[in-house]
Amino acid sequence: MTRITRPLRVGIIGTGGIAGNHIEGYQKAEGVELVATCDVVESRAIGMKEKYGFRTHFTSWEEMVKHADLDVVSVCTPPFAHVEPAIGALEAGLHVMCEKPMALDAVQAKSMVDAWHKVRDTKGNLLSVGFQSRFGRNAQQLKRFIDAGELGEVYYVRAAYLRRRGVPAWGVFTNKALNGGGPMIDVGVHVLDLSLWLMGHPKIQSVYGASFCKFGNRPGVFNPWGAWDPAKFDVEDSAFAMIRFENGAALQLEVSWALNLPKSVTETLVCGTDGGARLEPLTLFQERHGTIIDVVVPEKATEGQGGPSEPNHHLQIVAWIESIRAGTAPLVLPEQALQVSQIVDAVYRSSETGASVAFSA
Ligand SMILES: NC(=O)c1ccc[n+]([C@@H]2O[C@H](COP(=O)([O-])OP(=O)(O)OC[C@H]3O[C@@H](n4cnc5c(N)ncnc54)[C@H](O)[C@@H]3O)[C@@H](O)[C@H]2O)c1
Repeated sequence: MTRITRPLRVGIIGTGGIAGNHIEGYQKAEGVELVATCDVVESRAIGMKEKYGFRTHFTSWEEMVKHADLDVVSVCTPPFAHVEPAIGALEAGLHVMCEKPMALDAVQAKSMVDAWHKVRDTKGNLLSVGFQSRFGRNAQQLKRFIDAGELGEVYYVRAAYLRRRGVPAWGVFTNKALNGGGPMIDVGVHVLDLSLWLMGHPKIQSVYGASFCKFGNRPGVFNPWGAWDPAKFDVEDSAFAMIRFENGAALQLEVSWALNLPKSVTETLVCGTDGGARLEPLTLFQERHGTIIDVVVPEKATEGQGGPSEPNHHLQIVAWIESIRAGTAPLVLPEQALQVSQIVDAVYRSSETGASVAFSA
């Protein structure tokens, strides 16, 4: 594969909250031209165009894909509007970075992966999904520790993204038909993807889940991020799952937008036969010469390579552009993002039936 050296022409579909993170990442990547924005709300497309110096804007992704002569698009629309533009752009031969979750559900997500499989050999384009947590310096370092065998056999991971109160009350987040679900599909997918990657994507055996809506339909719940309409809240506000793998390992997943706990917690804890590790602050838990020890990686250790303050989103986009230039697979593979959607679907299904979902995908 010959390295692409010419400028890569970028378009953004959906110019709301997250789009700016993609655009600033593209600004940090070398040889990228910001060409077109697209939003069904024209004032937003124009606003982003003017803020970041894009050349043109559209109100239809079909028109943008047809006329803007692009190489790459970021799909930054809400989940209900991921699949159509992503597939349309893939079929037009563009490289597609789609925001998380890949789609509303696993059936839609699979249709995106299938569409990519149909075109990738002839068009050579890449598809990836916005699971930027993998690009964090601590995550990268922890992965190196794990892959080097520092933890021995990893058999248990606890992934938690628990907010005591933190319901995104804006946009489509609390609408099942438009967002696909609540905290599980919003923030749970991040810690789930990160955990699966750290574990080396072992084959999934079964998923047992329980989800709750205990605050969403109540009026007047304290929420630092504003009020929502309790009559229209139809997603879960917390969810919990145990995922078992064919290699015997287990992953416990806990997510909430509202839960009566002492304080909000984001934690990835990895336990292996020779050591454990916590992601933030990056710490190894080991045993040496008759005692237990904690090894803390200082923040300074990650300086000088982008630095700890560099947003993961920017690191992700810079790596994405490098994959396109080099013609190499992106870190987040489409099939891995599909697996996240399959697990989320299984958590919801298990919660409904009360039984664990056997996994054959
Ligand atoms: N990776 C992360 O950490 C992270 C953080 C926040 C949001 N997200 C994800 O990013 C996506 C967008 O979230 P957001 O918070 O930016 O939403 P948002 O509502 O702020 O912005 C979405 C924009 O898409 C536009 N849009 C909707 N349908 C469209 C269509 N068919 N064509 C063109 N534009 C369309 C809307 O008008 C809106 O301006 C979601 O999938 C969300 O889950 C990811």
